[in-house]
Amino acid sequence: MSEKLHIIPHQHEISAEDRAQLNGHPGKVIWFVGLSGSGKSTLASELERRLFEEGKHTYILDGDNIRSGLNSDLDFSDAARKENIRRISEVAKLMVDAGVIVLTAFITPFEEERAKVKALIGADNYIEVFVNCPLEECEKRDVKGLYAKARRGEISNFTGISSPFEEPQNPDIKVPTHELTVVEGVDNLMALLEKRL
Ligand code: ADX
Repeated sequence: MSEKLHIIPHQHEISAEDRAQLNGHPGKVIWFVGLSGSGKSTLASELERRLFEEGKHTYILDGDNIRSGLNSDLDFSDAARKENIRRISEVAKLMVDAGVIVLTAFITPFEEERAKVKALIGADNYIEVFVNCPLEECEKRDVKGLYAKARRGEISNFTGISSPFEEPQNPDIKVPTHELTVVEGVDNLMALLEKRL
């Protein structure tokens, strides 16, 4: 603990504002929340494409790329999910400072963790998207075959089956992917971002 007393951040010459001016937009975090198979990565991917085409600087952090690298030591216990989100939020914060529009696609099942992410990133820079596709529909899609395995007891702590999912109470926007096409969902997100960027 005492060693932390001897960590004194350096004030660098170039600020986040300088980078925003160079890029033509500030850094932001667009944090997608939702069950496995709800469509988080699909929406993030299409939204990124649209932003990229407008010349925005973007990057996607999602379950598969982060859990096979930076967070490959973490499982799906509650404690590990919290650590997963904590590390991702710290990475996202650095990327916002670097001037990037970061799109994250993680289940993020706990309200307490989402509140911590928002506090860390800062409410102005944090846009929470609840991909509110119901469990029944995600299970019916079962894109990765994981719900069937979870029902057979072959995967433990599976979100929605044997591990909790707390619905976001105050998302900035909901995208019901069982009612909207990907293009409609992304149109709604683009309309929100026009106000927030
Ligand atoms: S989170 O809860 O910590 O936010 P994260 O988004 O990183 O989860 O990872 C979820 C992805 O991991 C799922 O989409 C699924 O492909 C895979 N996965 C493997 N095991 C589980 C599990 N027990 N619960 C949920 N997802 C799992």
